[in-house]
Amino acid sequence: MDSIIIGGGKPLNGDIPISGAKNSALKLMAAALLTDEKITLTNMPRLRDTRFLADLLGDLGMAVDEEGDNVTHLHAPHITSTVAPYDRVRKMRASFNVLGPLLARAGKAEVSLPGGCAIGARPVDLHLQAISRFGAAIELSAGYVHAFAPDGLRGGHVNFPFVSVGATEHAMMTAALAKGESVLENAAREPEIVDLADFLNSFGAKIEGAGTSTIRIEGVERLSGGTYSVVPDRIETGTFAIAATAAGGKVRLTGVREEHLHALWPLLEAAGAEIGLNGDSVTISRDPSSRPHSVDMATQPYPGFPTDLQAQFMALMTIADGASVIRENIFENRFMHAPELNRMGANIRVDGNEAVVRGVESLVGAPVMATDLRASVSLVIAGLVAEGQTQVNRVYHLDRGFERLEEKLGRVGAEVRRAPGE
Ligand code: EPZ
Repeated sequence: MDSIIIGGGKPLNGDIPISGAKNSALKLMAAALLTDEKITLTNMPRLRDTRFLADLLGDLGMAVDEEGDNVTHLHAPHITSTVAPYDRVRKMRASFNVLGPLLARAGKAEVSLPGGCAIGARPVDLHLQAISRFGAAIELSAGYVHAFAPDGLRGGHVNFPFVSVGATEHAMMTAALAKGESVLENAAREPEIVDLADFLNSFGAKIEGAGTSTIRIEGVERLSGGTYSVVPDRIETGTFAIAATAAGGKVRLTGVREEHLHALWPLLEAAGAEIGLNGDSVTISRDPSSRPHSVDMATQPYPGFPTDLQAQFMALMTIADGASVIRENIFENRFMHAPELNRMGANIRVDGNEAVVRGVESLVGAPVMATDLRASVSLVIAGLVAEGQTQVNRVYHLDRGFERLEEKLGRVGAEVRRAPGE
């Protein structure tokens, strides 16, 4: 398997263009099953996860055609299968989101339960509760969800017991074609929710309130086709911003939505970075000759600090001049990067969902690996500031969610290359 080799100690200087958001693109692709007309997505990231979902959608009857660097055409005139098998859903949880669109289009669906993953148990009970409120009959057997709505879906009222991004998105896309009004309360407010609502509305859906905790959906008979541009990736933006703060130098991130990271910018400023917000670009600068400062952080649903940037922020704190307390409030098992960072000389003590990071003068390069993509990229950030060479193994994870990572870091002066595995 390929690895990424990083020579540490280089400041970063220059521009990095930000790609479309993985976690939005995946939901828009699944939602494209809702219409028999052609949908074109622009600003599409080219990632392992989007290709993986494209394969599943292909099995269900959708033609998925990539054009150039970032355009993808999706067209499902007929649903040819209503089954999403174990092997597909197990490898990528977002595949589970085809359940609602299949029900809406074909009246039935058979979708494997995703099971746990490296960052926690991650059940789908909230997804199923919501979908059953829209009149679907749901049975679980042999690891599969069998869902039926032979007479069509109808609007319903869902009050989520806690905030779930995936369940909110799944409910919203399922309700778009349900008869009558649906209301989602305690809905997630992430920018990806707003992107999905904008996408559906631009093709004829009637969704109001996305981005607040109450979303109202007036079901429509059908959705049309058309073109839509995927929102910029706030997690990729935040990752490079943290990398620039850690390594020092001056980096401009272009094609961003800086307002989606209001929880990050003050923390990076407190850590010693100067942040320049200019609408669709952000400049991050820090003097590489001094150490960053330690800052406490806790993850929260949006608009709080994103769990998908927790590992990267921890990598920054490993070299800060002080101690930082990091609390993970979304997933129960999302500190697997801590022992790997410790192998590079960091001083992190984990206790339940809290980690105490005592900053050290410097890290030392080492062969490391991680079990999910955000943890993997935190090791890349550690490699950028470590003395000597770091080899991040299992690059597979990085390729799931970061487009051309080594190229983007290379263009701002990082010494980073991909080494083919045996
Ligand atoms: C999305 O996952 C993202 N994935 C995650 O990004 C992200 O970390 C997460 O939202 C939180 O922001 C995609 O969009 C593909 P949740 P999702 O439902 O929707 C529990 C990455 O690295 N829960 O908001 O699965 C759940 O276990 C990934 O790109 C239930 O108990 O997250 C978790 O503890 C990782 N029952 C919490 O809720 C349910 O039915 C929040 O999860 C659903 C969720």
